[in-house]
Amino acid sequence: MNIEEQKSLLPYNTFGLEASCRYFAEINSVDEISPLLQKKLEPIMVLGGGSNILFTQNFEGLILKNNIKGIQVETELEDQVWVRAGGGESWHDFVMWCVAHQYGGVENMSLIPGTVGAAPIQNIGAYGVELKDVFISLEALDLKTGEKSTFSKDLCQFGYRNSIFKQEAKGRYCITSVLFSLTKSPHQINASYGDIQKVLADKGIVKPSIANLSQAVIDIRTSKLPDPAKIGNCGSFFKNPETDRIVLDRIRVTHPQAPGYDLPDGRVKIPAGWLIEQCGWKGKRVGNTGSYEKQALVLVNHGGAQGAEVKALAYAIIDSIQQAFGVTLEAEVNMV
Ligand code: EPU
Repeated sequence: MNIEEQKSLLPYNTFGLEASCRYFAEINSVDEISPLLQKKLEPIMVLGGGSNILFTQNFEGLILKNNIKGIQVETELEDQVWVRAGGGESWHDFVMWCVAHQYGGVENMSLIPGTVGAAPIQNIGAYGVELKDVFISLEALDLKTGEKSTFSKDLCQFGYRNSIFKQEAKGRYCITSVLFSLTKSPHQINASYGDIQKVLADKGIVKPSIANLSQAVIDIRTSKLPDPAKIGNCGSFFKNPETDRIVLDRIRVTHPQAPGYDLPDGRVKIPAGWLIEQCGWKGKRVGNTGSYEKQALVLVNHGGAQGAEVKALAYAIIDSIQQAFGVTLEAEVNMV
């Protein structure tokens, strides 16, 4: 077991922020966790790909970098397979593995940064599909007791960019593996999201395969979202707010084109990117940070930004949207 001290977290967060931690250990198997817990180097934080975290200060405890790998077919049924992936696998590598093996269900979530173990925490999603749609269960280790447990889908309490791991179980578990249910050919292709239809049509693809879907998503994401290797960012910084219908109706009095999507419960979801753009933030630079020029919902590090600076910008955006539209934005990114 190798515990490093006073380690820089710069290579471990996609926002590219400079922060350090008191202790740092990489875990390659479940069995390596308990001996580390016994050292009582608290507080403990599990880090995946560092793609949804904003370090606003140094971390005075132990960072466990989840590096538990492995992808195996666990059960093969007539029309589906159950595949288990280690919590430290790169999410996109897992998606590429599924596409290469002709297993369907995750292709719309291609190129989402982060790890398999972090994916259930905020129920990642893109282009009409969410993690919960392919999820069976996960294995986790309780960082307080060292006990292993299995979480079924119900126990995870998945919601829009939400789960029990962002609520009462926040910070409590290390997710060591996730079990997925994937389809065998013929797959259920989900190409209804506007941008995907357009990309496929432009390529003249009428009957898309899962590989075509995956490539379309990769094309869209690379054209709209900044590559964290070039411009530090954490994808969408805020959630799309869910409001009562009357809020959108009121906005449409002055902004008839305001977009909004109906939710099953009669409420509506308003794209935060639109609200942020209306308030003049899109592409605006404030010091070393700002809102991305092609997608206002993404905050970026233009180089040398401090976490506190990004946090201040986030609150300035929240304030201006509250004042202009009476809508409260909530951060999707975890600020620590
Ligand atoms: N829009 C603007 N201006 C902008 C950005 C967006 O007006 O600068 C409006 C447009 O009306 C556009 C609508 O917002 O039609 C939706 O935009 P987009 O399709 O880019 O999706 P999003 O709602 O901004 C969500 C997810 C993304 C995911 C995409 C595609 C959240 C918080 N974000 O973004 O997820 O890739 O849908 O499914 O739900 C992430 O979570 O990190 C992430 C990137």
